[in-house]
Amino acid sequence: MGDLNLCVIRGDGVGAEVIPAAVRVLKRVLPSLNTIDADAGWNCFTRTGSALPDETVNRITECGAALFGATSSPSKKVAGYSSPIIGMRKRFDLYANLRPVLSLPSYNTTIQDALVNLLLVRENTQGLYAQREYMRGDEAIAERVITAAASARVGKIALQLAQSRQKILAIVHKANILPLTDGTFRDAIRAEARNFPAVEIRELLIDTAALQIATKPQSFDVIVTTNLFGDILSDLASMHCGGMGVAPSLNMGASVAIAEPVHGSAPDIAGRGIANPCGAILSAALLCRHHWNLRDAADLIERACFAALASIRTVDLGGAASTEQMTEAVLAHC
Ligand code: NAI
Ligand code: MG
Repeated sequence: MGDLNLCVIRGDGVGAEVIPAAVRVLKRVLPSLNTIDADAGWNCFTRTGSALPDETVNRITECGAALFGATSSPSKKVAGYSSPIIGMRKRFDLYANLRPVLSLPSYNTTIQDALVNLLLVRENTQGLYAQREYMRGDEAIAERVITAAASARVGKIALQLAQSRQKILAIVHKANILPLTDGTFRDAIRAEARNFPAVEIRELLIDTAALQIATKPQSFDVIVTTNLFGDILSDLASMHCGGMGVAPSLNMGASVAIAEPVHGSAPDIAGRGIANPCGAILSAALLCRHHWNLRDAADLIERACFAALASIRTVDLGGAASTEQMTEAVLAHC
């Protein structure tokens, strides 16, 4: 095995269409990359009885990095099934989820012209995603778990990233209504911020932040927020980068990182060869930049994707290009 190893998990639906595209781009830019395939998701569950087999977990551990497509999760409880991405986040303690939003180029513009360039950092292990749900009589209760330690560590990543960018960090919370949980989150990040005097700290309540992301997205640099707020705000913010087909993400922990497009398995378009591969390709770029520290490779992939998007578009962006044509266009710029 060489230096760079990647576990490739296609998953269900369009995951199986966009992940191979991203692997092609990665291998073009990093010819020495070793990849190993692994299985997870709904199809895997129906075949093997596990949505996240031990074998897959072991391969991710060995590689230290994974590229994951998406899985189809039922919206009702199915005995024995649990979402593999949630399982991987817990298993590898992937505590920060990076979700950059760069405005989509209009035809014939370049990356420098992007009007929106924000980076949402989502706490990835706590909040309502702790999934501590139970019934007490007729009350259905979900516990929203926040600790100062988990808030501080995601805050530190957000502060480091802000320091390397425009040096503005917005802490998004709802501490006026939830002073204990969101107060803990905010206070822990403010305490961490004392180590980053160059970074300007702003605070926004979640509802105000939603309105500003919709109306003044260019006013943001880095945003840090709790798990569910980050989930929702990142989908909202993706409207500025061309929507779900283009939005990338990276789950980061102390040793392992898992890149995944923000979108799901898209059953409405799966199997037709029209899924946009850019979200998966840009996720691969995040892996290069933030996990492998290969900035040149990340820049190359991002510029290639942007250059391709300036000339052709997939169906979700109003164009007619197939997954294959879009991928070829990106490769042509690599
Ligand atoms: P979705 O993200 O799969 O689809 C939402 C919309 O975006 C659809 O109209 C779809 O056609 C479009 N879209 C998504 N990816 C696209 C791409 N690459 N190119 C072009 N258009 C694209 O979300 P939805 O429909 O709510 O969920 C479908 C399934 O995915 C569900 O079973 C859900 O549980 C699962 N899901 C899985 C995730 C994961 O594994 N990380 C994340 C989100 C949803
Ligand atoms: Mg989501």
